[in-house]
Amino acid sequence: MLTSIKTNSLTTDGQKLGMMYFRVAIILFGAQLVMGLIAAFQFLFPGLLFELFDFSVARMVHINALVVWMLYAMIGSTYLMLTEETGHEGVAMGLGKLGFWVLTLAVTIVVLVYIFVQVGAGTETTLWLINEGREYIEAPRWADIGIVVVVLIFYFNVFATYMKGEKTGIMTVMVANLLALAGLYLAGMIYTDNISMDQFWWWWVIHLWVEATWEVFVGTLAAFALIRLIGAKREIVEMWLWIEVLMLFGSGILGMGHHYFWIGTPEYWWEIGALFSALEPVPLIAMFVHVLYDWGKEQGIAQGKGEAGSVITNGPAMAWIVTNAFGNFLGAGIWGFFHTLPQVNIYTHGTQFTAAHGHLAFFGAYATILIGMMYYGLQKAYGVKVMSATFKSKMGIFLVTFGVLGMTVALTIAGYEQVMIERGELGATWNAFFTAQELPWYIQAQLWRAIMGVVTFIGFIYLVWDLLTIGQVSKEAEA
Ligand code: HEM
Ligand code: HEM
Ligand SMILES: [Fe+2]
Repeated sequence: MLTSIKTNSLTTDGQKLGMMYFRVAIILFGAQLVMGLIAAFQFLFPGLLFELFDFSVARMVHINALVVWMLYAMIGSTYLMLTEETGHEGVAMGLGKLGFWVLTLAVTIVVLVYIFVQVGAGTETTLWLINEGREYIEAPRWADIGIVVVVLIFYFNVFATYMKGEKTGIMTVMVANLLALAGLYLAGMIYTDNISMDQFWWWWVIHLWVEATWEVFVGTLAAFALIRLIGAKREIVEMWLWIEVLMLFGSGILGMGHHYFWIGTPEYWWEIGALFSALEPVPLIAMFVHVLYDWGKEQGIAQGKGEAGSVITNGPAMAWIVTNAFGNFLGAGIWGFFHTLPQVNIYTHGTQFTAAHGHLAFFGAYATILIGMMYYGLQKAYGVKVMSATFKSKMGIFLVTFGVLGMTVALTIAGYEQVMIERGELGATWNAFFTAQELPWYIQAQLWRAIMGVVTFIGFIYLVWDLLTIGQVSKEAEA
């Protein structure tokens, strides 16, 4: 991966830029996991690193790094597929490169400031220079403005290339969806000191990202990947894509009501949120069926020709994309559905159950397919026709997935205990909150989460090791 840009089978600057974004993404992913581990051990040993590296900081960097690495990998994937989809080498890619360096410098400064300025008053100055205080998207105002500028450059690259090149269905969805995705970021910059209004707008970014525009984005990635990796028919894949887009926006937009149950918004959100968010798993089932159906069909065709499975041109990428179909459905669809009705959410709101869902959904729906795209990029970079999974690829995907599933189960148990004891029995008081967390079931669950976190991390090391070596290995195998 490190030498993937120089090797050099990448023909356009867009593809090279894609690989540059991937590298930073994987580094930030590593940083995310280290922060998660620190926070997980702080659950077990509350005094750990106290006043040196507080839980609040570890948690904040953990989830901000998560969002940022995913955005990096999304931008990388877009640059990577741009040439292939449009048949055009890309417009103003030099500007895109400048944008990459500006963004990376800004991200580095923001993270360093988070780490070195851990506590202090929240004022107008800190809002501009240190931290905006909005969970997941905490970048200070100066960085916000920088991000907007860089994203405008990125969007210009994509849009101008699209206008000059071939306009496939996949690219049309991509271009329209990216406008919505980027535009929503602005909703997270509206400043008000009314906490209800602040949360109201904050959810426009968080929910409408992960349950609408990001989902559509991975829909386009899956469509693209299915065509490239298993030779799926474009007409069929694009037909699925349009259906998924329709369903995702149909339920996802008003599904936002499931965050408006208890924040001071009008009561009609109970009904709207309950109904539309309960429909949200439907498109996720469609995406699941789509990937597995196409995969099974192409396998069948290959077997019919007596060439068992050889249609898959990139083993690890395909494995991650199939994991995505399962993970998206389970993490977002099932774990989301569990707590989406207000009658249930009144008990589960803000417990470790939410964290269980958050982990499996972000991992299943996004981490998986973005890692798959990194493998696809490597295949292009090394110019190999068929990239087969190595032992390291298998250990990577198995341990990371097993670890995240294990963490999810542990957190679900912790959440269940909180619902039973803190909410059900003790009536959700301040004391109940602490009592529930001191009981053995909760502590054991947190212990298992930490253990499974370590498993995830070992898997991550295999993954990085594989990303660094698989290109060369496949190239030699082919020669
Ligand atoms: C890939 C898609 C999804 C991702 C990445 C995701 C992620 C998350 C995260 C991180 C939170 C916690 C937010 C916070 O800090 O307060 C959350 C909350 C929630 N999610 Fe999802 N989610 C997804 C899809 C869904 C779906 C499809 C549903 C419903 C069917 C759903 C239902 C909920 C509900 C009800 C909450 C509020 C939990 C509470 O009250 O504490 N999510 N989601
Ligand atoms: C080494 C593995 C990991 C460990 C030990 C870990 C640990 C943690 C901890 C301790 C928190 C704070 C929970 C709280 O405030 O109660 C957290 C939050 C979170 N983590 Fe992780 N994490 C890991 C990996 C991941 C991965 C792979 C993802 C997604 C791709 C992820 C997504 C999240 C999200 C979305 C939250 C916020 C959840 C919420 O508040 O509802 N984490 N994690
Ligand atoms: Fe939501």
